Amino acid sequence: QDDHASRGLLEGKNVLISAGPTQESVDPVRFFTNHSSGKMGYALARQATNLGATVTLISGPVDLTTPQGVKRIDVQTAEDMYNNMIEAFDHNDLVIKAAAVADYRPKVTFEHKMKKKQDDLILEMERTKDILKELGKRKSSQFLVGFAAETDKYLEYGRKKLVSKNLDAIVINDITAEGAGFRKDTNQVTYLHTSGKQQQLALSSKDEIAKGLLQLIVSDMGEGL
Ligand code: CTP
Ligand code: CA
Repeated sequence: QDDHASRGLLEGKNVLISAGPTQESVDPVRFFTNHSSGKMGYALARQATNLGATVTLISGPVDLTTPQGVKRIDVQTAEDMYNNMIEAFDHNDLVIKAAAVADYRPKVTFEHKMKKKQDDLILEMERTKDILKELGKRKSSQFLVGFAAETDKYLEYGRKKLVSKNLDAIVINDITAEGAGFRKDTNQVTYLHTSGKQQQLALSSKDEIAKGLLQLIVSDMGEGL
């Protein structure tokens, strides 16, 4: 048999996934980061590989082993992640941005360790590039999926990101929900497609959530497959 069911739903497809946090240095010993563990992105990479895809994983600093068969590229900063994602984008059919990218970075990275002086310290920060938004602008045939981490009004904010970043679908994480969010081994999410289709994925392991998400994505990629 040579149909999708026997070969895997993503057989012959190139899939690009970003995962984990970024680190934005202020000096050689200190950096700004966030609570992302990378587990959701790694689960997606593992499950996409199981479906037969050729997976490239662009990973911030995480404490996880690379899933079997996945090509992993390690990055540290939002700028590194931007450059690697842009470079790989054109060669991929499905792109999923699960990484928690820093929105701001120190305006200056000091060459030497900062010494403490005054009681109060004001650090100037500047915006990083919005990687996903840029991918949305450059999109041709790719199916582009973003994530949204929200603590309130999650459907409203998620829908806004779906539109403003020109995505095909978004995975909304209400990080206040039970068993959801950073560092956990479980998650519960809402998948939203541009057609308006909305699907809840109930609390389960991140690998189960990844399987469910990939099924929805594959069915929405439709004729492209
Ligand atoms: N994202 C990105 N580049 C950035 C910031 C975010 O690619 N500089 C991506 C994330 O990887 C995620 C999506 O945008 O897939 C949404 O991230 P999120 O932090 O929820 O939204 P923001 O657009 O950054 O808006 P805000 O943090 O203000 O809610
Ligand atoms: Ca953000």
